[in-house]
Amino acid sequence: MSSEAIQRIQQATNYVDPQLWVVTAQHGTSRGGMIATFVTKASIVTDCPRFLVGIAKQHHTWGLIEASGALGLHLIPQNHLDWIVQLGGCSGRDNQGDKLEGLSVTTLATGSPILTEAVAGFDCRVESRLDTGDRTVYLLDVQDAVSTQEPQAALRFSDLIARMPAEESSRLAELYARDQEVDRRAIVEWRADYLEAQS
Ligand SMILES: Cc1cc2nc3c(=O)[nH]c(=O)nc-3n(C[C@H](O)[C@H](O)[C@H](O)COP(=O)(O)O)c2cc1C
Repeated sequence: MSSEAIQRIQQATNYVDPQLWVVTAQHGTSRGGMIATFVTKASIVTDCPRFLVGIAKQHHTWGLIEASGALGLHLIPQNHLDWIVQLGGCSGRDNQGDKLEGLSVTTLATGSPILTEAVAGFDCRVESRLDTGDRTVYLLDVQDAVSTQEPQAALRFSDLIARMPAEESSRLAELYARDQEVDRRAIVEWRADYLEAQS
């Protein structure tokens, strides 16, 4: 792809302003969490609620989801920009103890950690999965939910850009660049395998 096309796509992608989510998971006594934007409602059927989420295989939380077959999804309140730093600014892989330390947590049907201060929280079981090389896209069967605040209280990506202090922003940007490199290699490898299987 030409660098001009990459620029045009990047510019157009700036029009997308997703909500920010916390994804949590627990296996045995090991628990973790991360920030995600790749989360979307995937069913209009009220008694068959579903979400789709895309989790990079390089993340510690991915291993916990694979092991437990469940996860918690949470909309982040405007006053909890600190959750972005705590959960998106380092990896549980680096053995820094309990990433959910200090957060108020409960459990519902699946046993996944549910953050009680989230704008809304969804307790989900993995129903199916799609391997895209860099990520696993999980189809989730929602088992239960809580909501504590008005929907407009939920943080969006544009809020993060506008309000995150410069020092934290540049640390997140560094991690983002590192994650991008790992994801890029995984996508390229996956595409090569896919094309070979098609031929
Ligand atoms: C704003 C933002 C959005 C993110 N969105 C995603 C996402 O949709 N999927 C994903 O796999 N990682 C996403 N990440 C990256 C993870 O949250 C981050 O790498 C985290 O530290 C992984 O933690 P873990 O290794 O403990 O699971 C995002 C990070 C930020 C800051």
